[in-house]
Amino acid sequence: MNELYSKWLEQKKLKLQTIDCYSAGVTPEKLAQQLNVDISKIVKLNFNENIFINRSRQTFLLKQVADEIDLRMYPEDEVQKLVEKLTEYLNIPEDYIVIGNAGDELLDRIIRIFVEKDDIALSFEPSFVIPQLCVKRQEGEYVKVPLKNNFQLDVPAMLALFSEKTHLLYLCSPNNPTSNQMNPEDIEILAKAFPGIVILDEAYSEFANYSFTSRIREFPNMIILRTFSKAFGLAMLRLGYAVANPEIAEILTKKAPQPYPVSGFTIRMGIKMLENIDIMQTAVAALTTERGKFIKALNQIEGVQAFDSQADFVLINTKLPADLVYEKLLKHGVMLKKWGKLLQYENCFRVTVGLPESNAKLIEALKQLNEE
Ligand SMILES: Cc1ncc(COP(=O)(O)O)c(C=O)c1O
Repeated sequence: MNELYSKWLEQKKLKLQTIDCYSAGVTPEKLAQQLNVDISKIVKLNFNENIFINRSRQTFLLKQVADEIDLRMYPEDEVQKLVEKLTEYLNIPEDYIVIGNAGDELLDRIIRIFVEKDDIALSFEPSFVIPQLCVKRQEGEYVKVPLKNNFQLDVPAMLALFSEKTHLLYLCSPNNPTSNQMNPEDIEILAKAFPGIVILDEAYSEFANYSFTSRIREFPNMIILRTFSKAFGLAMLRLGYAVANPEIAEILTKKAPQPYPVSGFTIRMGIKMLENIDIMQTAVAALTTERGKFIKALNQIEGVQAFDSQADFVLINTKLPADLVYEKLLKHGVMLKKWGKLLQYENCFRVTVGLPESNAKLIEALKQLNEE
């Protein structure tokens, strides 16, 4: 064994240990094995996937793409076609749009480009964790200001931290996991005063009341992130886009080392979904109707508080300890995302709005917990 190599690898591994990675936890397949039940019995409400999308129509489009595509070629014209479709969808010129390999890759790309060692990235908590992991990987510092008790931004506290060292501001609206949209006036104040790049993560905006994409020209330092994983139900394919003024959009395109970050198959499927936009619209309408009923039913359970939502998931807080609720629900085959303590609430969970039958199973299981 080459000794220098062994030493080098040990040091590398030590350094890599300090970098946190995202862990998805137990999968439905593993849970089904553990419980010795068929996977169809598992109620998966932990990843904010949009099950309201008509699967047979989506599969039909997928087969069309398979027939049309030549897998031997690099994806070149596809990108341009998707950009054209997105300009129609968003009513924004082409040079404002950057295609990426879903939201996570775009976040990673933006942070690699704009955050360097010892730079400060500012955000709020609780919120989506991936930007923090990306900033830490860059050896930057991630500073989080707690949200106010009503889940809105603490604007004065955030403004007080702006300095020449703060290079990135990450805002998420609707926010994961609180599911509310931030006041647009607060976003405007922060974005206009921030001395660096502002990411506004709108992964869930199709389920919400407003989007900043139509106002992008007002914010030269803003990058709005959108994804096909949620409203369009393409989480498996990994497709997303950023909306930014041409100066920033060009940097995101030109300063990315990968010339073809997204597969042509994926891009063509994105085009099909935009050409058949009623699939998404019907799903979003059904989901938001179900969301209202779901929140009402959850709030009727003794010891459960569900908050209003502008996303495809609902935040709940339970009277019973989060660890206990989590474990017991798993035994019922129900998977939620456990948050635990969140601001003034002790036992929080993020719950995807599922189909009525899945939601009913969760409600039944939560009621049973009170009797167990
Ligand atoms: C707020 C937020 N942003 C971005 C993403 C990334 O999603 P994707 O990489 O599938 O586009 C997620 C995923 O859950 C999210 O909740």
